[in-house]
Amino acid sequence: MLSLSLLLTCVLCALSCRAGVLGERDSVYPRAGSLQQVTSFGSNPTNVGMYIYVPTNLATKPGIIVAIHYCTGTASAYYTGSPYATLAEQYGFIVIYPQSPYAGTCWDVSSQATLTHNGGGNSNSIANMVTWTIAKYNADTSKVFVTGSSSGAMMTNVMAATYPNLFAAATVYNGVPAGCFYSATNQADAWNSTCALGQSITTPAHWASIAEAMDPGYTGVRPRMQIYHGSVDTTLYPQNYYETVKQWAGVWGYNYDAPQATEANTPEANYVTTVWGPGVQGVFATGVGHTVPIHGDRDMEWFGFA
Ligand SMILES: *[C@@H]1O[C@H](CO)[C@@H](O)[C@H](O)[C@H]1NC(C)=O
Repeated sequence: MLSLSLLLTCVLCALSCRAGVLGERDSVYPRAGSLQQVTSFGSNPTNVGMYIYVPTNLATKPGIIVAIHYCTGTASAYYTGSPYATLAEQYGFIVIYPQSPYAGTCWDVSSQATLTHNGGGNSNSIANMVTWTIAKYNADTSKVFVTGSSSGAMMTNVMAATYPNLFAAATVYNGVPAGCFYSATNQADAWNSTCALGQSITTPAHWASIAEAMDPGYTGVRPRMQIYHGSVDTTLYPQNYYETVKQWAGVWGYNYDAPQATEANTPEANYVTTVWGPGVQGVFATGVGHTVPIHGDRDMEWFGFA
């Protein structure tokens, strides 16, 4: 009996010693299977928080999804409130959850800095999180995606415009076009009522030129964009759906007035999916307010995991 308990003690000791070794590695590689903060990932001029979910079932050359929270949200709230960490375990990709540095936790989608490639704003910090993660985990650079809700959806459009080189595709849940929240006085984190109320209305070509000016040297392939919006959204008025799909149809060179397909009751009753081409698809949800629920399985298809 004594020798059995001694044996058990030794086994437990060995296990905890192993855990200690793994714990040391955690300081170099964030622990898998839970949300972890990364405090040093490169230049971070606007002090954006970086949180990461590395699945226990990590793929050998993993993809990355950047999942951006709404105003009042946090990385932790979006981690628990969105399906991406669960899906990460299924498909082996890494999720990055940036966290806004501002009171009220909206994103800066209004300053010149954030609306410029390597401009030193929030978008620059998030891009640096992506490049850090690619290097650290030997990630597949052809499988890097961005998604977000509300202010996070605005930021998703800004990321797609400022860093088209980084992202293969994006999904946007109730946002506004990149540049629509522009601040004439160059304020960071400004609210723009004209845009929110759906009164910033222009042509696909003009919206495209606004997005393209955010990374003027770029001539490569653009991220594929899937845009969701609800028809009775009174926070970011539904006109922003039309303006956003105009922007990306313009960037992709599609004729906004002649979509390729319109599918009623897709992906569910009262949602209409409109396809402008392989690069741009819109989903307008009749009777849905702010915001359209995240359609995780459909995101997986759009990103090519499923
Ligand atoms: C709000 O954004 C629009 C573009 O969408 C811009 O023309 C306008 O100047 C902005 N308003 C303020 C107060 O900066």
